[in-house]
Amino acid sequence: MKTDLPQSFRRLEYRPPIYTFDQVELDIALDPVRTIVKSRLEVLPGQGFEVGAPLVLVGQELEFISLRINGQAHRQFELTPETLTIQGLPNDGKDVFTVEIICVCAPEKNTSLMGLYVSNGNFFTQCEAEGFRKITYFLDRPDVMARYRVTLRARESECPVLLSNGNLLGTEQLPHGWHSATWEDPFPKPSYLFALVAGKLECIEETITTSSGAKKLLQIWVEPHDLPKTRHAMDSLIASIHWDEKRFGLELDLERFMIVAVGDFNMGAMENKGLNIFNTKFVLAQPETATDADFANIESVVAHEYFHNWTGNRVTCQDWFQLSLKEGLTVFRDQEFSADQMGSESGRAVKRIEDVRLLRQLQFPEDAGPMAHPIRPDEYQEINNFYTVTVYEKGSEVVRMYQTLLGKDGFRKGMDLYFKRHDGQAVTCDDFLAAMADANNRDLSQFRNWYSQAGTPRVKVQEQYDAVNKQFHLTLTQSCGPSPGQPEKKPFHIPLKMRLITAGNDQAEQLLELTQASQTWTFDGIEERPVLSINRNFSAPVNLDFEQSEADLLTLFNGDDDPFNRWEAGQKLAMRMILNHRLPDAKLIEAYRNVLLDPNLDPAFKDLALTLPVETYLYEQCSSVDPQQIFTARRAFRQEIAKQLQLEWAALYQQMQTPGPFQPDAVSAGKRALKNLALSMLLDADVTTWAPMAVNQYRIADNMTDRYAALAALVMNGAKAAQECLVDFFSRFAKEPLVIDKWFALQSSRPPVDGLDLTLVDVKRLREHPAFKLNNPNRVRSVIHAFCSNNPASFHQADGSGYEFWADSVLALDPINPQVAARLARALDRWRLFAQPYQNKMKAALEKVAACQTLSPDVKEVVGKALGN
Ligand code: TRP
Ligand code: ZN
Repeated sequence: MKTDLPQSFRRLEYRPPIYTFDQVELDIALDPVRTIVKSRLEVLPGQGFEVGAPLVLVGQELEFISLRINGQAHRQFELTPETLTIQGLPNDGKDVFTVEIICVCAPEKNTSLMGLYVSNGNFFTQCEAEGFRKITYFLDRPDVMARYRVTLRARESECPVLLSNGNLLGTEQLPHGWHSATWEDPFPKPSYLFALVAGKLECIEETITTSSGAKKLLQIWVEPHDLPKTRHAMDSLIASIHWDEKRFGLELDLERFMIVAVGDFNMGAMENKGLNIFNTKFVLAQPETATDADFANIESVVAHEYFHNWTGNRVTCQDWFQLSLKEGLTVFRDQEFSADQMGSESGRAVKRIEDVRLLRQLQFPEDAGPMAHPIRPDEYQEINNFYTVTVYEKGSEVVRMYQTLLGKDGFRKGMDLYFKRHDGQAVTCDDFLAAMADANNRDLSQFRNWYSQAGTPRVKVQEQYDAVNKQFHLTLTQSCGPSPGQPEKKPFHIPLKMRLITAGNDQAEQLLELTQASQTWTFDGIEERPVLSINRNFSAPVNLDFEQSEADLLTLFNGDDDPFNRWEAGQKLAMRMILNHRLPDAKLIEAYRNVLLDPNLDPAFKDLALTLPVETYLYEQCSSVDPQQIFTARRAFRQEIAKQLQLEWAALYQQMQTPGPFQPDAVSAGKRALKNLALSMLLDADVTTWAPMAVNQYRIADNMTDRYAALAALVMNGAKAAQECLVDFFSRFAKEPLVIDKWFALQSSRPPVDGLDLTLVDVKRLREHPAFKLNNPNRVRSVIHAFCSNNPASFHQADGSGYEFWADSVLALDPINPQVAARLARALDRWRLFAQPYQNKMKAALEKVAACQTLSPDVKEVVGKALGN
């Protein structure tokens, strides 16, 4: 039956599986047009078994061929477009029985990039979350865990390499130029961790010895011409393996660990057991083609997927509502890894600032918008829409708060207990919390509210210094606005690190635990009025409501010993002034100058301290956003910094050079970042004077960081030479798709210069460019997303032309790739926050998309929720 109401899945409706599988055998004959999939499933009663219940398998876009049970053709079954229901099971399903199914799928026609698909002539799979059902009929849910043995067959000339999870059992030559390989994964796993890769690929290899003395084979598979770009990913993998042994006592459990890169991929990467599949963007790097940011991202994504081997694969999720159990925890682990790789305390702070900036730019808006959901959602229509910054980044903040509350050792005890209890199981977020609580003898029941309630809590800070009694009173009051389906919130358990800063510097850092709606603390023996430094290192993911004086903020910006809060004070000062349409005053300029000249500060920190909050973060501080006004105010503020400090920028540009061969380490990267900030500031201050220096840097650069930064400075400031350099860049890197993505993205994210905005015209032209392909997600992200999400001043046109472009793009993309279309659809989430005429025009664009009769469930959920249905 077809209804107009979208189907919702609810967390509380979870039922354990009626049947489960023990052994799964797959025999897959790969062909781009018709791939034949034979499965042999050993079925047994599951935890929710009911005598006589039919076996209901799910399948999508499959051609059914045949069904046998215990070796006999079986005729009692019913097929729908999404299910295969098998009745008349032997002995009412009480004993083990085998099901054999033959079906066919069409990888070449699969543009959704979920299930089995073809990219550049090679075969790949993506099964998380529900892609396995596009390969064969199955119990495609994470709490059904089975052992897999997989035989892959293909024409050897087309697919010399055949890979799947686990260990290679053997290969065979077959008639007519075919061959086969058989793989066995010794660890039971859910179907979403299944993977196969086949095609013309080559690998680099390393053998390493892990803590128990076992030898392990590491491989990175890519198209042959990309082999020279794999070294950094391999080094990152090796570092990740050592780090997980050292920090968490977790060892690689397979004899072989493979990473494969693919150019068409919906997300960043995927942690399939022993066979991670990556977007090329997060594997391939050479100094000439990848920026420092790319190098750092590769390191963290490689680590992330590797860390999933324990947090996600060995212990997996009971159902998809528990996604943050693996994602929040694994993001926390990769963030800690990357921080440790920075090599210094101030380096750690830089990493922390970057992570918090991302959280506040992307997750805070999500948490305040129509798609807001708790890190453990209660309801979804399409699970693909819940791979969100809330589940990932806020999920990581929640895990971080355990560590803040329990200490590093206490956290480790909790992790040890979690693995001791749940290795090999599919579990819930409650199980994780229980392990943390039990291992530390702590009552964490109130902490559960972080899992069940959406929205960013607000903490109001009231301070009072009593000079007579030498006391400081601090009152903290928490609240959290309504979220969809959650009008009222209970108080959260909020860990706030704080310190009272006085000239004597005698107050130590403390941890306050705010658990009630409002609490007051009194500090005794405070000899002079202190400056309050609170939520140090961003110990809790909250918004502070704190009217701290500009004088106090300047004090903190000039010298808070917590580098995060030092940076934060600078951001707050800038934000206040921009929102009030003020320019930086003499004191702030002086403070900026001091930061820039301070020999004890890392260049990377200086770069962050002088980088202003992005426009979309500023929007969140307003009740009615005028995007053009905010753009103009921010731009004027930045230009003032550029001009007032022109001498300092010019000096830094020279001092921050990194002579000698390119090194991607954090210190060199920090110098380049500051040097390139200086360059862009100089062009901002006076484009005619400084453009030749940027052109020179563009020409002589031996690495992508410097070449791209120079190009960006020219393009962003409307320099005359920009066009010529863009043309040069395209022809120079025509054979490097990831670099061409940068070329597209730069032009799509160019804001208006001197009131002249041609970007939409350009973006439409780029969409017609022969190198643009709507079915390549990286290209879509670099042209369409870059414009709709990273270029607010050009996107938000009063005539609504930006929104019309958005609507047309979503509608064009949806039939090709619903998952990527739904991400793009999120760009209008915050429409209610905008002033007129923007708000009405955004609503009209959303309605245009919603009116389409053939929308995917993915896009339908996003626009439906945005419009408030
Ligand atoms: N589990 C993957 C990760 O976080 C995410 C992922 C990769 C994914 N590809 C996907 C999720 C496709 C949904 C669909 O590492
Ligand atoms: Zn992940």
